Amino acid sequence: MATWSAPGKVFLFGEHAVVYGKPGIAMSIKPRVMVTVRHSRYFQRPNSPYIAECFKLLDIKGSVYVRSQLPSASGLGSSAAVTVATLFAINDEFQLGYSRAEVAELAHEVEKITQGGRASATDTYVSTFGGMVLIRGEEKRRLIPPQNLSIVIGNSMVSHNTSEMVRRVAEFREHSPAVANPIMDAIGAITMEAMHNMENHKELGNLMNRNHALLEALGVSHPALSNLVLAARSAGAYGAKLSGAGGGGCIWALCSKGSRNRVANALEDCDAKTIITTIDTEGARKEADL
Ligand code: MEV
Repeated sequence: MATWSAPGKVFLFGEHAVVYGKPGIAMSIKPRVMVTVRHSRYFQRPNSPYIAECFKLLDIKGSVYVRSQLPSASGLGSSAAVTVATLFAINDEFQLGYSRAEVAELAHEVEKITQGGRASATDTYVSTFGGMVLIRGEEKRRLIPPQNLSIVIGNSMVSHNTSEMVRRVAEFREHSPAVANPIMDAIGAITMEAMHNMENHKELGNLMNRNHALLEALGVSHPALSNLVLAARSAGAYGAKLSGAGGGGCIWALCSKGSRNRVANALEDCDAKTIITTIDTEGARKEADL
């Protein structure tokens, strides 16, 4: 029996734009998914298509047990975390000998297959290595994360589907390239500007607000997300934006330590479920067996 866990993530900047080779920055957060895999003669087909794909890709049969601190389908990278933790647990239990980088590659493959071909390596890479990562096409660069990040996540509880949102953006891009492409370029430019302002939380907040506006223009927000973003800013957050595919799921706000409870209360007043958290720097890790 082998148990591994992997963290969720938020996109600081660049969701959707990363699918088209623009730069983006993502960061892993403390809440995790724990997966136990056990060698077993009886293979019970897992409920999660991501877990099923992990077993299929590695041509292995076993039993799986999942516990999660991450809400699923909410933009916090729970599918990537479950994929990464499952692959590490299989790798350990069946002594397959894959390196951390190879597991990250396999996890990206699983996400691509399960999401119908389009998925950036962002979620799986960040969940594998932890910390903060710049993604640009095939390039992945681990960044020194800024200190004392207070993050408040607001879950709108509106369900969404990543593949569907990615497909909608692709359609918009095909239909109106002259409008969609400059939006993608501007999102990429925001990421590059953020690289020079990592220790300036106020400026990062401003850039988050601009990135959210561009995601609205791409058509991937939702009235519930717009509400939460405005509530977080009014309560004193440096900035707030949706995270991940959009259309529902979560927003996150960058806050000072002094304002994070106020921001969380404001989000709860808008019927969101909240998580107060910070950056995770470990990535996937082995856990004690149950
Ligand atoms: C989903 O968390 C982020 C998207 O950019 C898709 C991807 O990067 O694969 C929408």
